[in-house]
Amino acid sequence: MLFLTIFTETMNKDRKILVTGGAGFIGSHTVVSLIESGFTPIIIDDFRNSEKFILDRINQITALHPIAYEFDCADQNKLREVFTEHEIGGIIHFAADKAVGESVKLPLKYYENNIQSLVSLLKIAIEFKVPDFVFSSSCTVYGEPDKVPVDENAPIGFTASPYGYTKQVCERICRDTAYAYSNLKITLLRYFNPIGAHPSGLIGELPLGVPNNLVPFVTQTAAGIRDQLTVFGNDYPTVDGTCVRDYIHVCDLADAHVAALNPSKEEGGVNIFNVGTGLGSSVLEVVRTFEKVNNLSVNHKIGERREGDAAAVFADNSKISSELGWKPKYTLSDALAHAWTWQKQLNEK
Ligand SMILES: NC(=O)c1ccc[n+]([C@@H]2O[C@H](COP(=O)([O-])OP(=O)(O)OC[C@H]3O[C@@H](n4cnc5c(N)ncnc54)[C@H](O)[C@@H]3O)[C@@H](O)[C@H]2O)c1
Repeated sequence: MLFLTIFTETMNKDRKILVTGGAGFIGSHTVVSLIESGFTPIIIDDFRNSEKFILDRINQITALHPIAYEFDCADQNKLREVFTEHEIGGIIHFAADKAVGESVKLPLKYYENNIQSLVSLLKIAIEFKVPDFVFSSSCTVYGEPDKVPVDENAPIGFTASPYGYTKQVCERICRDTAYAYSNLKITLLRYFNPIGAHPSGLIGELPLGVPNNLVPFVTQTAAGIRDQLTVFGNDYPTVDGTCVRDYIHVCDLADAHVAALNPSKEEGGVNIFNVGTGLGSSVLEVVRTFEKVNNLSVNHKIGERREGDAAAVFADNSKISSELGWKPKYTLSDALAHAWTWQKQLNEK
């Protein structure tokens, strides 16, 4: 095992991986995983939805200050400068706008950023003969799946939001590009519901304004930033009537990106993997687990159903586990404890 670790780290050494959106929630945890696996991450982020102090926090965790560039990653001229300066061995493309509700109000912002940045990066990847490209997709591409657990062969479904549609369009762009340029291997990772924070509590999710996702809303309610959490509907056909989702610890999700790069297997084509725990948890289970593990209570009420919410969505993760050897290490309790550690230090900041 020790030999394997040393061998893998030696193999990765000096392999530079470009991480767009590397100061963001999932990107920053992935930068940590990359460093711990012996890669050299190069971040591009324009900090439109993140803070620069995250780079210092990555340094605190890994004792390495990652190289970071501040610009819009849709800018091909600036990308070209970075690729000329560094020999990039792989790209992980996180940078995107991600707020489902905002995308309904500002669809063009989402179409512009999410699609243009992908097209620019793919063009540069081809120009500089980069072998590996990993794209942040989402289980939202399945819409409301016919059956759960949902596997990668499930049909692409109807997605109501412009955000969800950008993920479907971006997946199609990746497929077409991988088909046309066989030297480029593209991996689409379909994330389920990323939650939690680094166990140190030094990096985590930084929602701007009112959080869209359940766990930041729970932690902010527990911290007194929000008065009350509303649970949208308790009459779904689930264990306790509330919606069921697959909550994946962000550090496990980060490791899936490293697994997708390492080893760089077959050439060309598009590979698709669900990244989820394979377990569904209801909203009330999340709230109760959070209360129990952190020994506090969360003020919540039951509200009306929210339009467009599927009753239950959770992953069949057997493909990523058998093909890439990836398995989640953390439990829901771990993730909720780490999310609270992160929230507490944010309050102190
Ligand atoms: N968090 C989730 O629940 C979730 C679920 C499924 C998929 N995803 C996808 O994963 C990716 C990362 O999500 P996240 O939660 O870490 O989001 P995030 O907002 O925390 O991180 C995105 C980062 O990208 C940066 N960025 C955005 N557009 C940019 C641009 N044009 N140029 C340079 N930097 C830019 C932002 O400043 C931010 O640091 C996104 O593509 C998102 O759609 C997220």
